[in-house]
Amino acid sequence: MNVLVTGAAGYVGSHAVKQLLEAGHSVVAVDNLSHGYRRAVHPGATFHKLDLADTDQMAALLHRRAIDCVMHFAALIVVGDSVHEPLAYYRNNTGGTLSLLEAIERAGVARLVFSSTAAVYGQPEQVPVVETAPSRPVNPYGWSKHFVEQVLRDQAAANAEFSFVALRYFNVAGAAADGSLGEAHQPETHLIPVLLLAALGRRGPATIFGTDYPTPDGTCIRDYIHVEDLCAAHLSAMDALCPGDAKFYNLGIGRGYSVREVLEAARGVTGVDVPVEYGPRRPGDPAVLFADPAKIRRELGWEARWTDLTAIVATAWRWLKNHPRGYA
Ligand code: UFG
Repeated sequence: MNVLVTGAAGYVGSHAVKQLLEAGHSVVAVDNLSHGYRRAVHPGATFHKLDLADTDQMAALLHRRAIDCVMHFAALIVVGDSVHEPLAYYRNNTGGTLSLLEAIERAGVARLVFSSTAAVYGQPEQVPVVETAPSRPVNPYGWSKHFVEQVLRDQAAANAEFSFVALRYFNVAGAAADGSLGEAHQPETHLIPVLLLAALGRRGPATIFGTDYPTPDGTCIRDYIHVEDLCAAHLSAMDALCPGDAKFYNLGIGRGYSVREVLEAARGVTGVDVPVEYGPRRPGDPAVLFADPAKIRRELGWEARWTDLTAIVATAWRWLKNHPRGYA
């Protein structure tokens, strides 16, 4: 297929481009480079520096390259920032996707794979979380994705030719197993790279946000899914899309690890006594969040291949050790 990837220079987008190319697809990579890195884009893709807000250029590109499917990763992703700058999140994530959808409609593209988030569930009443759990975000980031999900439902209902699948990510982690790509956010806020940067001495001690949660060791529990498993699910979801489809899948491995367990994994992998300090809870963090991935297993035959936390952390470490300054 001819696939256009937005956010292609970002963490997940760059891994998806690589996998799409390896699977024999032709890839048009788009990114505005506000947060992504040109160097993260595989040379086998055609790159266009383009903002989602530029509907005309996007429609022209989709048409010119006869795109069969759009994989839409481009978004702002820092939950805490979204609380302080809600307009930026709604403009980029919700408004940007509206612009993209208009371009998709004009160009007559029939398939969309959308990066959604477990943040749409907010503080779920039950774990593991199933896709039918109520969508009740607790921050603007989650709302910005929730609104897109609703727009997608409406757009699919109004257009028999249009189909989409929204993939609700839990905690994406790790790096390409061949060491070619990794995670580089500026600033870095995600637990695993924060711990590894502390191990490298590229930042001060990592802060553990809260040790008084109602969990066995007092720290939050999350579902860490390897970025390559996550991308493989995108390819399966794309292949399975049929006209009129409006689908939602959780993307997690179905088991949780505590922050302390992640810390121990980071210490084991790096051989460094990763420096940490213990701080208060981070507002908005649910105590326990992990996916029930049964639906995507059943319907698409997807299985996580990376289920061992230490192995996942080891891929992140391999990349970061070799690229201590990220892509800079
Ligand atoms: N944590 C720390 N210290 C840090 C960073 C994180 O203790 O320096 C803890 C957090 O409190 C949380 C866990 O580690 O308990 C994971 O935190 P991350 O920031 O790595 O990830 P989140 O679970 O907050 O968020 C991730 C994605 C979001 C997505 C969310 C959905 O980054 O985009 O999962 O659950 F919305």
